[in-house]
Amino acid sequence: MRYIFGNWKMYLNEEESVRLAREVGELSVAPGFSCAVFPNTLSFLPVRDVLRNSSFSVGAQNVSWVPRGAYTGATSAELFRESGAAYALVGHSERRYIFGEDDSAVRKKIEACIDVGLVPVVCVGEEKHDRDNGKAEYRVKKQLMKVFEGLSIGTQSVIVAYEPIWAIGTGDACSDTEAARMIGVIKEYVAPYHSGEIPVLYGGSVDAQNVHTYLSHGIIDGVLIGKASTDVTIFEKIVTEHT
Ligand code: PGA
Repeated sequence: MRYIFGNWKMYLNEEESVRLAREVGELSVAPGFSCAVFPNTLSFLPVRDVLRNSSFSVGAQNVSWVPRGAYTGATSAELFRESGAAYALVGHSERRYIFGEDDSAVRKKIEACIDVGLVPVVCVGEEKHDRDNGKAEYRVKKQLMKVFEGLSIGTQSVIVAYEPIWAIGTGDACSDTEAARMIGVIKEYVAPYHSGEIPVLYGGSVDAQNVHTYLSHGIIDGVLIGKASTDVTIFEKIVTEHT
C-alpha cells in the first residue's frame, strides 16, 4: 500500500474546507493507494460527511491522549475514532516546536491512537543545524527511540512520516535520494517494534513537480503534503498522475 496524505493545517475555514473536500471527493484513486485529508478540527465533521462515499479517508491533525472528561479544549483520539477518523497526525513539528509538545506527549498520543484503532502517523525530522552538523540521523533516531521504546504495537498499523523541519513550508524540499536514504535508516530502526513493516512517508515541500521523484523510490511508501494539498489543481495533478 502507498499513501498520499494532505495536511490542510489551519489554512482553510469550514466553508473552504468543504468546497475543497467536494472537489477532492471527485478524484479517483488507483488500487494500492490510500489517500486521506486532514482538515482542522472545526471542519473535520463536514469534510467527513462530504467524503463519505469517496476514495478518501479523513484524519485528525492532532489528538489528545486522555479519552474523555474535564479537559478543556481537547479532542481525543477516541472521539476522533468514533467520529470516523482513520488516521491521526502525531508529533508534527508544528505541534512540537510551536505548541511545545514533547516526546512524552507524542508517545502518549501514539498509545491512545493504538488503543482505539486509529492509525497514528508519527512525524519525525531533524532541524537544519542538526543536518549541517552531521546529526540528522542521530536526531531522528533519538525521536524514534523516545516514542517507540517499550511500546507494544503488536500488529496494529502505525505509519511514520519523515519530515525534515527545514523542508516544511520552505520550498527547500529534501532531495529524493536523501529522503530515501533517511527512510531506509528509519525503517531499519523501527523494524524491531512491529511484526510487519511500518510504512514511512516523506513530507516537506512536496508538490506536483517533485512528487514523482519520491514515489519513484520503492522504499518511500508515500507522501504527506501540506500547502500543495490545499490547491485543488495541484492536488488533483498529484493524485491523478501518481496513483
Ligand atoms: P508542506 O508541509 O508540504 O507545506 O511543506 C508538509 C507538512 O507539514 O506535513
